[in-house]
Amino acid sequence: MVAKTMDQLVSLCKRRGFIFQNADIYGGMQGVYDYGPLGVELKNNLKQAWWRSMVYERDDIEGLDAAILTNRKVLKYSGHEDTFSDPMVDCKKCKGRFRADHIDGKCPNCGSTDLTEPRPFNLMFKTMTGPVESADNLAYLRPETAQAIFTQFKNVVDSTSRKLPFGIAQIGKSFRNEITPRNFIFRVREFEQAELEFFVMPGEDEKWHEIWKEARIKWWEEQGLKRENLNIYTTPKDDLAHYAKACYDIEYQFPHGMEELEGIANRRDYDLGNHTKGQEEFKLEAHVHENKESTTKLCIRDDDSNSWVVPYVIEPSMGVDRGVLALLTEAYKEEDLGEGNSRIVLKLKKHLAPIKVAVIPLKKNNEQIMAKCHEIKQNLLKLGIGRVALENTGNIGKAYRRHDEVGTPLCITVDFETIEQQPESVTIRDRDTMEQHRVNVADLPNYLRDYFAR
Ligand code: GAP
Repeated sequence: MVAKTMDQLVSLCKRRGFIFQNADIYGGMQGVYDYGPLGVELKNNLKQAWWRSMVYERDDIEGLDAAILTNRKVLKYSGHEDTFSDPMVDCKKCKGRFRADHIDGKCPNCGSTDLTEPRPFNLMFKTMTGPVESADNLAYLRPETAQAIFTQFKNVVDSTSRKLPFGIAQIGKSFRNEITPRNFIFRVREFEQAELEFFVMPGEDEKWHEIWKEARIKWWEEQGLKRENLNIYTTPKDDLAHYAKACYDIEYQFPHGMEELEGIANRRDYDLGNHTKGQEEFKLEAHVHENKESTTKLCIRDDDSNSWVVPYVIEPSMGVDRGVLALLTEAYKEEDLGEGNSRIVLKLKKHLAPIKVAVIPLKKNNEQIMAKCHEIKQNLLKLGIGRVALENTGNIGKAYRRHDEVGTPLCITVDFETIEQQPESVTIRDRDTMEQHRVNVADLPNYLRDYFAR
């Protein structure tokens, strides 16, 4: 069963240090959140799993880390200046502003029917570069990470000698001035995306669209999301983004409903076609804006036909924050332990757990026990398995409860037997089964190496 309510997740996230409202001490900032000590680990682990599966495990994808500040021309030719907007209506009575497609003729705030006609509202954040505030210095915070992949296409091809099909992957922040940010970190104004632009020969796009749909669903299952909580939604033609020929949404059963977690779009030759120099030399399928400002042809040599082609693009694009929310939703369990006892446990996959191992002293004011805890922690860190935490509360029951709640797969307890008997041994407790057994300290590195490789 998935978490019952969003409130339970929000409460756990604040209590245990996963996610906080931004500027909390000043009453918060709507649609902006900060990741706390454990949230940063969980988010990094999710991004690492994505990067590993895209860039390291495959042989046809390169990485990129481009700037957030975006030259205005990029978003002019990408179509975002003209089309990246929502139709909005203003309530003349209470001055509230709402998405036209989210209301039915009545202000959701005050109930008035005195509304303006729908008007487009651009979702991009503007900023200025340099000391002078002028139209020439206008820049944007990127609304998607994808555009720099298109504008750097030629540099990546030239520096890596890639041939089709191949992809460029990027993870980073994106910004959208969402009118109604809501549902915790689901719809926010500052968020992270992990995007792959996979370039293919024209005509091979539909085949690759299917391949990526299957690959991405499988990946989400490997991160622990159950297939029954995932859905593939085919976007109707009328609802497609301005650049897309077709799009699948991978949806997840969030506490507030079945909603989009990742989009997998067929962008055809829309983006490279818009940004390329010499558009008339190519047989572009997408309807593009005339571009006399680009200095570079964004094409690649096809050896079979001995010609230059503008590739088509398949784009799996996941929201990292939505990914974190889905993982928390899936992993959150309340277990009845019998005799009136219960526990909250976060059953995260071990590669995603924020803390991999907690080392716990049975008595925190015993110098010998503390020294042994420090020594064990330092030795385990060398394994490179991730965060190993020294739990310094000195209350074993509370420590287990805390680590169940944050999803720590293993707790190691150092007790009097450890320091008094030879060979030295510790207790290892498993998060899911709560079973405990003793392992010799000398065997710990191999034990953990095996456990985290499984
Ligand atoms: N480059 C394609 C693109 O940006 P999108 O469907 O607008 O497509 C892709 O966004 C993913 O980014 C979404 O599936 C979602 O997970 C995430 N995303 C989009 N807007 C978001 C927001 N306001 N807050 C959190 N995540 C968002």
